[in-house]
Amino acid sequence: MWTLTENSFDPSSQHHKETIFTIGNGYLSTRGAFEEGYPGESRATFVHGVFDDAPVVFTELVNAPDWLSMQVLLNGEKFSLASGEILDYLRELDLRTGLLTRRVRWQSPSGQVATIQFERFASLADQHLLALRCQVWPEFDGQIEIRAALNGHADNQGLAHWNHVTQRQENRDTVGLQTRTRSSGIHLALAMRLPGTNSPEPDYWDTENIPTLRQVFPAHNGQPITLVKFVGIATSRDTDQPLEKALVHAARPESWEAALEAHRQAWEQEWERCEVSIEGDEEAEIALRFSLFQLLIAAPRHDKRVNIGAKTLSGFGYRGHAFWDTEIFMLPVFTYTAPHIARNLLDYRHLTLPAAREKARQAGFEGAWFAWESADTGEEVTPTWVPDFHDKKKLARVWTGDLAIHISADVAYAAWQYWRATGDDAWFTESGAELVLDTAKFFASRAEWQPERGCYAYSDVIGPDEYHDHNDNNAYTNRLAQWNIQTGLQTLNWLEKNQPEKATELAGTLDLTPERLSKWQDVAEKICLHIDPTGLIEQFDGFFALKDVNLADYEPRTKSMHEIFGVEAANQYQVLKQPDVLMVQYLLHDEYTDEQIRVNYDYYTPRTDHTYGSSLGPSIQAIVACLMGDVDEAYEHFIRAARADLRDVRGNAGDGIHAASAGGIWQALVFGFGGLRIHPDGQWETHPRLPKHWKSLTFRFTLRGQQHLVRLENR
Ligand code: BGC
Repeated sequence: MWTLTENSFDPSSQHHKETIFTIGNGYLSTRGAFEEGYPGESRATFVHGVFDDAPVVFTELVNAPDWLSMQVLLNGEKFSLASGEILDYLRELDLRTGLLTRRVRWQSPSGQVATIQFERFASLADQHLLALRCQVWPEFDGQIEIRAALNGHADNQGLAHWNHVTQRQENRDTVGLQTRTRSSGIHLALAMRLPGTNSPEPDYWDTENIPTLRQVFPAHNGQPITLVKFVGIATSRDTDQPLEKALVHAARPESWEAALEAHRQAWEQEWERCEVSIEGDEEAEIALRFSLFQLLIAAPRHDKRVNIGAKTLSGFGYRGHAFWDTEIFMLPVFTYTAPHIARNLLDYRHLTLPAAREKARQAGFEGAWFAWESADTGEEVTPTWVPDFHDKKKLARVWTGDLAIHISADVAYAAWQYWRATGDDAWFTESGAELVLDTAKFFASRAEWQPERGCYAYSDVIGPDEYHDHNDNNAYTNRLAQWNIQTGLQTLNWLEKNQPEKATELAGTLDLTPERLSKWQDVAEKICLHIDPTGLIEQFDGFFALKDVNLADYEPRTKSMHEIFGVEAANQYQVLKQPDVLMVQYLLHDEYTDEQIRVNYDYYTPRTDHTYGSSLGPSIQAIVACLMGDVDEAYEHFIRAARADLRDVRGNAGDGIHAASAGGIWQALVFGFGGLRIHPDGQWETHPRLPKHWKSLTFRFTLRGQQHLVRLENR
């Protein structure tokens, strides 16, 4: 199955549907708001890298001027789903081609009936091109008027980021608009062209900041009229002349059909690389393709200066900031299906090393400490205060920007994984090695020797389970920090053998003196790891002494345990927002025996807030359940992840796609149910554990430049 369908319009799920009907092309995305608008809509287009920090404290991705705007008037009455009567309604997103179609048979308040269809796509063949087609089948005689506009009055939920720069009519069928962000000074231009030599002459309305072309068509009962709108888009991040560039792209397509065909072919190639199918489970299959689609439309193909935000480009949530969600959840999808995209994303981290070094330096450490929330420059943009759940008049302190140090190891892990999977020695030598070494340097400098315990500690941190802050010796952080330092030493060895000049260069620039390296060795050997003889790992110092809770006592519930207990009090309970010990056992699973994983799985699973905790959790939980051979339980977690956006399980899908969950779903499928294991020498095998009702699972992945198609059948 490839199509997401909506058969009726329900205004109460408007924002959710806007998110899931988002289209995009890796340069920008546009939420599924209606061309003609609707009261209360959360209309938005986000363009990668277009951030601005006025009037907010921390920079945010800016809602771009609106390219969609189109009003249809039937004998003078404006089409709107907020008036008249909807006689028939269908909205479909074809995931195979990224074409969004909405067809409505509508009766105006005075009784004019027409079927109105809108189709739109963001071209994957030309990232600076957007296309919209409107067709109207009138059931009356008279006149149909269409007003197509570019609207510069876009804002971020009330916060205005744009200053008008210029607008003009280029020629009979083309107009342009240019605006500039208030503080970051990024220019963005849109050019709109309404092709079609047979259509009536358009009128140009030079409304300030909303250049509009209006066309009036005679209406004859049963005879359709068609209007195509091509929009070119460019910013000063791409060129010095964004309006000229936007005009060139708007002028390029010969026809709707030609533009759509080029776009279709580009999508065909995308899907070929990451083919997936599940026979016997339509819900899982569509969720999986939907997740891949959402990641693919957010993935920068031609820009190394941007990352993918936790909500992709599909909503206002988290202000477009990127987290560890990219490296640990989304990146594996790209590493194994579209390595060029993975490399771009890792290059973003490489480019933001100066900011990461500055963050470490300001905190009194060496090396690179990446921002927990990262935007254009890589500086820390995590808000320090946010409104409290219980009382919006109060503020709650957010500690992740100050304490979540594991992000540096997550970046190093992803760089290493990319290198192992691709064999891209040139990239590793040029950029990856520096990422691994400078993060190792950070962890070695951040470690504190604890003489009474005889080990190195990381005190005052936050691990993946964010229900607990200010922890000492978080298991995930400590183990990944150790891995990072060990891998740093291995990297240096590899460079010395294979790229001695680079080894010398990096030893110089990063000041990797023998004393420093022997400290790395010492930290790596003596890091505090709390593993009891059964293999049970304490999540952090004192976790087992916290109050225990039986989560079943709180059922049925519709809130997270964080909301139920309150931010401060949640710290006192053994309740996890998302896997923490299990997370590290997944990432480094070759280093643990099945028994060691089992004992932790049995301990932490009942203490995790699977339903309303973090959306990052269920897919990882599913993978670990697969490792344990608990396929039914794995499926339960997997389907919870699969429904996160499509069924809006947490009620916040309107803020944007849960991108980490989308990446996690693919990982659950390939590494969990498919049981794909990749060995350091590049050999691979599968240990399938398919749910009983699946007939087969098929997926394609790329390893060291070679594509492999895996088909696993349930016998
Ligand atoms: C999760 C983090 C995640 C962030 C962005 C939080 O709720 O706990 O792990 O990085 O959301 O998705």
